[in-house]
Amino acid sequence: MRAELSVPPLSDLRERRSAKWRTYPADVLPLTVAEMDFGLAPTVKHALRAAVDRDDTGYSAAVPELGAAVARFAKDRWDWSVDPDAVVAVTDVGVGVVEVLRVLTRPGDAVVISPPVYPPFFDWAPETGARLLEAPLTSDYRLDLDALERAFATHPAAYVLANPHNPVGRVHTPAELAGLVRLAKIYRVAIVADEIHGPLALPGATFTPILTVPGAAEVAVSLVSASKAFNLAGLKCAAVVTGSHRMAEVVARFPPDGRWRTGHLGVIATVAAFTTGGDWLDQLLGTLDRRRTQLGELLATRLPQLSWTPPEATFLAWLDTSAIGPDDTARALFLERGRVAVEPGLRFGAAGAGHVRFNFATSAAIIDEATARMATALTG
Ligand SMILES: Cc1ncc(COP(=O)(O)O)c(C=O)c1O
Repeated sequence: MRAELSVPPLSDLRERRSAKWRTYPADVLPLTVAEMDFGLAPTVKHALRAAVDRDDTGYSAAVPELGAAVARFAKDRWDWSVDPDAVVAVTDVGVGVVEVLRVLTRPGDAVVISPPVYPPFFDWAPETGARLLEAPLTSDYRLDLDALERAFATHPAAYVLANPHNPVGRVHTPAELAGLVRLAKIYRVAIVADEIHGPLALPGATFTPILTVPGAAEVAVSLVSASKAFNLAGLKCAAVVTGSHRMAEVVARFPPDGRWRTGHLGVIATVAAFTTGGDWLDQLLGTLDRRRTQLGELLATRLPQLSWTPPEATFLAWLDTSAIGPDDTARALFLERGRVAVEPGLRFGAAGAGHVRFNFATSAAIIDEATARMATALTG
């Protein structure tokens, strides 16, 4: 069995300047925003250090390295053949989705999403002048193809897919994605697939990139990034991938200035991650698998009031806290009495009431401490 990835001591984590470690007072354990506590992949760290050592902090020039790196990673991990020339750098996944929607929508058009879902999904379409139409996941957190068909029949411009799905950690199956593509073709709805968590399919699950689904390339674009799996969010680099002339035309209409808006260190780190980070990523996935098991055991013994379905992907646990109280009750108790911060479920849409999202990309010791404090918060 591979060694686990290590996490720096809490005192070092607290020195970090990122959002996760700056949002709460020092006595709070933050298990919120999707940053990881593990050290960086050594090859990524080396590439970043080398860039700083040569004072290489100007504008990014992603072509051709980024496309080649994405194509190599996609082929190695998922047997997905990507044309390196069909990979376009963007600042981050959020910017990429918004730019795609700007091209695909006119003011007042509808864009469909499936809550509970990553909070910015509620903001991206309105940012472009479009309006939201919700087709929630089913009660067991699968794509609801009937609800999607009803929504698509009203002729929205696009559907924003989370694949795998944050916060529920579901890896959509090839059959579900084929059903989605079929509907998209019938009703002429573009699919904008946010696949940022694709590299984080955990042992036991297989990620299916949307563009590997037969027929999808004509109607879908994919947004990929190394930023979740390699903890590079602050460096600002993601990519839009297309697989047909039709969808490449959408990307060709991005603002001409866009090429200056991607982080140079982000491109350098992403290329290193995608070309040399495979072994480290496997170690990460093994470590997260063990944390997922640990969390399940601790929830069962210390917090039996909570229920969950262990995620198939991501390092995020979607916990049902409704037995403790409605809406945001549990989260407030965990924070105020336990000094543990988790994401409020309501941020993920109305379906998130009575839930919290717990980030388990950290050490076994922090998970142990956090669950102990959460249990005390409920009895105290
Ligand atoms: C589903 C999903 N999309 C996008 C993002 C953010 O990506 P970026 O920082 O590249 O915009 C996250 C971050 O957690 C996410 O979970």
